Amino acid sequence: MENVVEKAKTCPLTELSPMHPELLKCPYSMNRRLQREAPVFQDPLSGIYFISRYDDVVAMAMDHQTFSSVMPGGGTGSLATADPEITAIMEKGYPNVSTMLTQDPPLQRRYRKFVDGAFSPANLKALEPFIEQLSNQFIDAFIDHGQCEFLGDFGIPLPLTIIASQLGVPTSDLPLLRKWTDAFIGNLSQQLDRDGQLKAARDILEFQHYFVEKMEERRKHAEEDILSKVVNASIDGEKPLDNAECLSMVSQILVAGNETTSAALTEGIWLLINNPDQYEIVRKDPSAENINALVEEILRITSPSANMFRRTTRDVEVAGVTIPENSICFARFAAANQDEDRFADALKFDITRTNLRDHVAFGKGVHHCLGAALSRREMNGGFKVIFQRLENFRLAPGASEPEFSANALLHGMTGLQLAFDKIA
Ligand code: HEM
Repeated sequence: MENVVEKAKTCPLTELSPMHPELLKCPYSMNRRLQREAPVFQDPLSGIYFISRYDDVVAMAMDHQTFSSVMPGGGTGSLATADPEITAIMEKGYPNVSTMLTQDPPLQRRYRKFVDGAFSPANLKALEPFIEQLSNQFIDAFIDHGQCEFLGDFGIPLPLTIIASQLGVPTSDLPLLRKWTDAFIGNLSQQLDRDGQLKAARDILEFQHYFVEKMEERRKHAEEDILSKVVNASIDGEKPLDNAECLSMVSQILVAGNETTSAALTEGIWLLINNPDQYEIVRKDPSAENINALVEEILRITSPSANMFRRTTRDVEVAGVTIPENSICFARFAAANQDEDRFADALKFDITRTNLRDHVAFGKGVHHCLGAALSRREMNGGFKVIFQRLENFRLAPGASEPEFSANALLHGMTGLQLAFDKIA
């Protein structure tokens, strides 16, 4: 079988598609090549312009007037389709409207105002004991086995349980949240076959009905949760958000809040296994400072939110290439984080870098991640407990090397069979 990753190192650029599933899984050498030879590259298959250099990606993220986040069809990963069966399912639900991630200022700022307060430093500080309690609880469940499937046993449940608690969803409904997150992610991956798309449509419909019911409850009796804030907030006397707007916001918080942090936690452990010298630094001295440095370097190298869509509102020149008005572009945050001009020896995992925080894993500008501080706290708290209780990480005996999923927007592993020693 043809090795696409190898081929991409030397083939003519006209034969290269960054949307090829193998290159979505392993984009590193292709990214380097695009940065040097074609920093603005139009994918021959999808027509999407890929922008890969750090400075260009940052400039793009800062210029929301030229690079709009409002996509044709109502939003990133929208289910807009010509398939009558899928359309019939979606017609039983609520329309896909553009809110924070898929909206431009001033509307985008308006939506953000409803939820920004939920992630205030005081609220996040109060979450710290809960993050550590959950981390201990998940580790308790597998520590005596000497091994676990880290993604499913820790990486996913930690952010999922926290987001559920913040949204006001009972823990008994966590499997539903997981199923709905998978449906949204499957859609975003742009790799679903028709059966997959039908299932995603049904699951998203179920998500909508579930949350609309919860929203009605919160309109009658507000609680201390994000859902109550979203449905009841009225800023400057404006009318409260309608169901479609609330659903869009909840789905963004759910998807952005789960998959990305799970991916970073899990690939973080894999990076420690593969970089024993860096692991040794935190193993010997798991101080808050070292764990924080570890988290930032994991975010840079893994960049779980690898690519984000933008649509040009005018003809614009980037790195000498004119991108026509109304073109779809990818801001390649992951590629920017591996740019040698910004990060020396960029593919090296090095927690002692002096510019650790220069990464753009959380984006930049008006769309800078709503959950950046929450995610940082989850990762710092999670790793703190992990280093207190587990050591000598390695791949479980007989397990094969972990795989990465092929997703146009998100980067992450499909699982990690982990063996470890228990710290006495
Ligand atoms: C490691 C974890 C995370 C990563 C790597 C990440 C990455 C990003 C990136 C790159 C953006 C900017 C997108 C753009 O410019 O179009 C973004 C926006 C966003 N993130 Fe995160 N995120 C993470 C965790 C979270 C969490 C925990 C939440 C939930 C609270 C969250 C909610 C959001 C939302 C709602 C937006 C859209 C904000 C807006 O457009 O105004 N993210 N995130």
